[in-house]
Amino acid sequence: MISIILICICLMSNNYKIDGRMMESISQDDDLELDNQLKLINKPPLKTIQTVFGHIVDCVDINKQLAFDNPLLKNHKIQLKPSFQHGRTTLDENQRSATLSIEEDLCPIGTIPIRRTTKDDLIRLKHLSNNNGMLIEEVEGSHFAAVNLNGADRYYGIKGNINTYNPTVASKEQMSGAYISLAKGPSQVRNRIMAGWQVYPKIQGDVQTYFFIAWENKQNQTGCYNLQCPGFVQIDKKFHIGSPITSTSTFGGQQFEMSVAILLDPTTNNWWVRLEDKNLGYFPSTIFSDMSYADEGGWYGRTMTTLGNPSPPMGSGHFPDDRFGHACFIRQMTFQNETRKDIPPEMKLVGIYKDNPSCYDVKYTGYVDKSLGYAMQFGGPGGNCGD
Ligand SMILES: *[C@@H]1O[C@H](CO)[C@@H](O)[C@H](O)[C@H]1NC(C)=O
Ligand SMILES: *[C@@H]1O[C@H](CO)[C@@H](O)[C@H](O)[C@H]1NC(C)=O
Repeated sequence: MISIILICICLMSNNYKIDGRMMESISQDDDLELDNQLKLINKPPLKTIQTVFGHIVDCVDINKQLAFDNPLLKNHKIQLKPSFQHGRTTLDENQRSATLSIEEDLCPIGTIPIRRTTKDDLIRLKHLSNNNGMLIEEVEGSHFAAVNLNGADRYYGIKGNINTYNPTVASKEQMSGAYISLAKGPSQVRNRIMAGWQVYPKIQGDVQTYFFIAWENKQNQTGCYNLQCPGFVQIDKKFHIGSPITSTSTFGGQQFEMSVAILLDPTTNNWWVRLEDKNLGYFPSTIFSDMSYADEGGWYGRTMTTLGNPSPPMGSGHFPDDRFGHACFIRQMTFQNETRKDIPPEMKLVGIYKDNPSCYDVKYTGYVDKSLGYAMQFGGPGGNCGD
């Protein structure tokens, strides 16, 4: 199924281009092809919801979601809740949840909300899959400001409360975001999971901030953002991936955040993604060539731009200055090792990574205070940061 979609997308001829808002017409054959793909991707809804953001959300039978088109999940037994326990995240009085306002419970029992894929979505994706057919392939013009786990341990989980912003991007190909990630393997065959927020018009369709998830299995050349390919099994019946995060922070003003976690299930070895206090769903262990644990990971600010073009701002667009509420932050950072306890990332357990400090910086000194816990600040204005 993955290969079918990718091949179809790659085969589509080049007689259309997305250029700003202009779209040249596509041939009748391509149009038919797109219709066929949409039929495969969009499962028959039991109910349909029109969101205030102009998206269509389908309530799809939880057992018939796209993930189960993946041949690797042919005999998969759906896991309705994780086998680990976890505490609730406590929101600080100074921080507000960025995602609470979009919780809705409109889908019938046994169904989950899925944002319907449109023809425009597929056309945008075609451009992404040009990188070897891998939808989340590393691109040049990518810059980081990050705190990395130092790789001296085996990792089973990672968490953080990520401050949300809406940095300005100059084109559909630019991305600016903040996320947590865990990965395993040498880079040529790496397996990886990411979760956080991003502004990335090519993926999301507009310049708003979105919660996103992504996975890749480089060994098998599979992976994608969100639910664009059969991989992630969604369990939560309220939150739909692809709903914009409208509560974003302002420099020195009201701060919003999202609490995100990636946790390995000790019983099934599925990788759960949590958002606020919800278990959104999981990446089944079987879609990875080897993700029995992670050997790298961390908390990232990242931007991307096309070759030769200036990079967009990261976070709030401001450099860290030790004043939380200025530069973008991630607080209450923890990870898990084999003990499956939340471990604070002491300085000796992590490294700082920034590839161009004149564009983006990161500041991390470990524990800050009770409310922030272990917290980092990162970001900057971008500009001519190199490729
Ligand atoms: C990866 O590719 C190998 C070799 O083709 C195949 O045997 C295996 O099932 C694939 N695994 C995944 C997780 O895609
Ligand atoms: C897990 O991390 C803690 C804190 O760094 C360390 O003391 C412990 O040895 C680690 N355990 C394992 C099994 O790696």
